[in-house]
Amino acid sequence: MKAQMKEQVQQTAERMDANAGGSEQNGLRYQSGFGNEFATEALPGALPVGRNSPQRAAYGLYTEQISGTAFTAPRSHNRRSWLYRIRPSAMHLPYEAMESPLLVGDFSTVPATPPNQLRWSPLPMPDAATDFIESWVTMAGNGSAEAMSGCAIHLYAANQSMTTRFASCSDGELLIVPQQGRLQVATEFGRLEAGPQEILVIPRGCRFQVTLPDGAARGYICENFGALLRLPDLGPIGSNGLANPRDFLSPHAAYEDREGDFELVTKFGGRLWRARLNHSPLDVVAWHGNYVPYKYDLRRFNTMGSVSFDHPDPSIFLVLHSPGDTPGVDMLDFVVFPPRWMAAEDTFRPPWFHRNVASEFMGLVHGVYDAKAEGFAPGGASLHNCMTGHGPDAGTFDKASAADTSVPHKVVDTMAFMFETKQVIRPTRYALESAQLQADYFRCWQDIRKNFQPPQ
Ligand SMILES: [Fe+2]
Repeated sequence: MKAQMKEQVQQTAERMDANAGGSEQNGLRYQSGFGNEFATEALPGALPVGRNSPQRAAYGLYTEQISGTAFTAPRSHNRRSWLYRIRPSAMHLPYEAMESPLLVGDFSTVPATPPNQLRWSPLPMPDAATDFIESWVTMAGNGSAEAMSGCAIHLYAANQSMTTRFASCSDGELLIVPQQGRLQVATEFGRLEAGPQEILVIPRGCRFQVTLPDGAARGYICENFGALLRLPDLGPIGSNGLANPRDFLSPHAAYEDREGDFELVTKFGGRLWRARLNHSPLDVVAWHGNYVPYKYDLRRFNTMGSVSFDHPDPSIFLVLHSPGDTPGVDMLDFVVFPPRWMAAEDTFRPPWFHRNVASEFMGLVHGVYDAKAEGFAPGGASLHNCMTGHGPDAGTFDKASAADTSVPHKVVDTMAFMFETKQVIRPTRYALESAQLQADYFRCWQDIRKNFQPPQ
């Protein structure tokens, strides 16, 4: 009996230990929770106890704070972390401007935005060796990086790992949506990996390096200039559902003590700058705080929907949002359309025809989007701006209008998403002149038949 109890206690302790460590994926350990106060050290005793800035930090480390919100932001939104590192982040040579003609950081400078429905085919993979940070092209956005308001939407298509180069973005936090190929990302806070159907968020200012284990990688980036992304309130849904906080994963501390001829590429003021440094900036031995990179598996999104009639507003698919000044009106919403059951009876089940005061930039990670049978390919994108009419194409409308809605239908093999903003999303010159722009997109609504039959 005693032995049995002892075994039970031991099993419980092992379970608690496993939970405390978060989770492990592909050999990387993560801490779990959204916006948590994490504490992690790669060497025992590297984290000071009971204070942030001791006179002399352990192991001869330098102490540094990184603040992601105003010092005086309300406690519930305040984000900062304390880093204990081999060298301070200030230690690099002066920055020099880099050529970055395909990046836009001030959207008042782009051509007039047409109120047309716009759609693009996927960005081709590059022929020349191209790493993650140099592969970005800005497709659209609003506001300005320097005004810290709005967002920029980029595509990336890379085929080379970063080796002697590191990157950071001072203009905003990076919401990365891989569509093809995994990204292994070493950051100041530790290592993360994200592939298609996952997202990765790198905080403003965080230094990182991207390795491509699959040789090539393509995807979408929403660079959020404004308030940090957070989980939405759930209202009548209750205390669980949509994206659950415990599914957000942040790294454990991991550092490299590496010297050599390195380059730090920083995005600042909408363009790239490069500085030389003689050591790896990923030299943080321990850290604690709540300003951290994180990843999230979109397949864990607990999707809500109607079980009676009518398709709900797409706000029901909200994963993360950047709130604006007006309650309920977000600067940026990140919305996902994952596999799910459609059960609404006597209902047109796909998204309805609509016009929206908000503007919608959509992408497709995988499969087929249920409002478009053709033309919207994985890796492609569409843009429906403020009050631009859109909705199902003619084929989808006919099929859904004739479907038997007395039985549920499962939407499978899909992972579409949307960056939705309260400001008009302005496509860049590159996007409007791109060979990937589908000039015939408007045609998908031209074959819709007139069915009106007034009484004779
Ligand atoms: Fe829409």
